[in-house]
Amino acid sequence: MFEIFFLVLFSLSKRLLLFLNFVWALKRKKRCLSLNEETKKPRNGKKIIAQKKNNNIELLIMPFKTKLTELCGIEHPIVQGGMHYVGYPSLAAQVSNAGGLGIITALTIAQPPRGAEALRDAIRECRRLTDKPFGVNITLLPVGVPPDYEGIVRVIIEEGVKIVETAGRSPAAVIKPLKKAGIIVIHKCVAIRHALSAAKAGADMISMDGFDCGGHPGEEDVGNWVLLAKAGSVLRQHSIPFIASGGCATGTQLAAALSLGAEGMNMGTRFMATREAPIHANIKKALVEADERSTTHIFRTVNNTERVYKNAQAMKVREIESEHPGDFSKIYHLVKGELYRKSFQETGDTENSVWSCGQSIGLIDDVKSCKELITDIVNEAENTIRGRLSSMLVHRSRY
Ligand SMILES: Cc1cc2nc3c(=O)[nH]c(=O)nc-3n(C[C@H](O)[C@H](O)[C@H](O)COP(=O)(O)O)c2cc1C
Repeated sequence: MFEIFFLVLFSLSKRLLLFLNFVWALKRKKRCLSLNEETKKPRNGKKIIAQKKNNNIELLIMPFKTKLTELCGIEHPIVQGGMHYVGYPSLAAQVSNAGGLGIITALTIAQPPRGAEALRDAIRECRRLTDKPFGVNITLLPVGVPPDYEGIVRVIIEEGVKIVETAGRSPAAVIKPLKKAGIIVIHKCVAIRHALSAAKAGADMISMDGFDCGGHPGEEDVGNWVLLAKAGSVLRQHSIPFIASGGCATGTQLAAALSLGAEGMNMGTRFMATREAPIHANIKKALVEADERSTTHIFRTVNNTERVYKNAQAMKVREIESEHPGDFSKIYHLVKGELYRKSFQETGDTENSVWSCGQSIGLIDDVKSCKELITDIVNEAENTIRGRLSSMLVHRSRY
């Protein structure tokens, strides 16, 4: 009698479980259907988290939560690195509005006659254009007459900037007052040992800049495939978070960077080819038309290597450097900043100045808005991880 009672109870509970499972599956199916709607309006009081667009599911939420997004309070793990004659508030604000971290380039703006006070205006302008977090880049390059770093740091603190990107050399000279003011410091460097010493000096995060990058890749010539993997093991052992920088332009690269241990991705060149980048249309056209072989290095012989667009001027500089290694006076007339500024801001002449750009130039096929660019990258990264990568995994129970 007792056994029969237990048998009936067992079979009933099994049926009940099957029924509950069925109800749960129905609910899940309903939710999936609601994701396919072409509307962002809440349905049945539930928040729609995706919409169908050209047969693709476009997410309306932030698919990535990393130490970068958490630390900086941004939606997507994408940073626009400081860029001389490009990183004005108009670009930085639009990157931030699109959910990334836009960065104003202090040295471009803090120029005579107003110096650091011009940076104050730029920070205020950026704040008018966005209510999202943005940063300021302080480039510490070995230049003859040093810029007014003290004034720049003072203005950054007084204006309540929350994030600073330092680069060029050790941030030790500026990091103390920044940290005292509670500012997040992301230090960009090209070698693991520099990353370790920047973190020791107080940097909160490292932007690991590989040899592929536009601007100054240093003298160590280590490409990102190795540099990031090494950062992924060494920096993580020391609990130093880092982001990938140099040669980045796509969502598949974001997925790869995250899998190598990075918390996000920093881009320079790719952001030049956006509608909001405040540079001449001819420069953007050159970026779209070029391929990954279209960059070269100058300044190798003066120990300050720079990756630039491979044009007639850059080739002339290289030729002179090989004849007069280390003699900056022989090349100064070809490389002065004013020529660079004129090409970007006035003439759009791609050939008569030397201007920074990275190997990511080979991954640029169009000029789009910052919003489109960031959304596309994030969607591609997510699809790569959820789709391609996870589809390659075989369930362990089948071994
Ligand atoms: C036109 C241009 C100007 C740049 N100027 C600066 C600069 O003034 N300070 C700095 O720290 N990095 C500068 N960079 C480097 C970028 O912040 C970023 O680290 C680099 O572009 C990443 O490589 P990518 O161009 O392949 O994305 C510049 C890069 C470019 C393309």
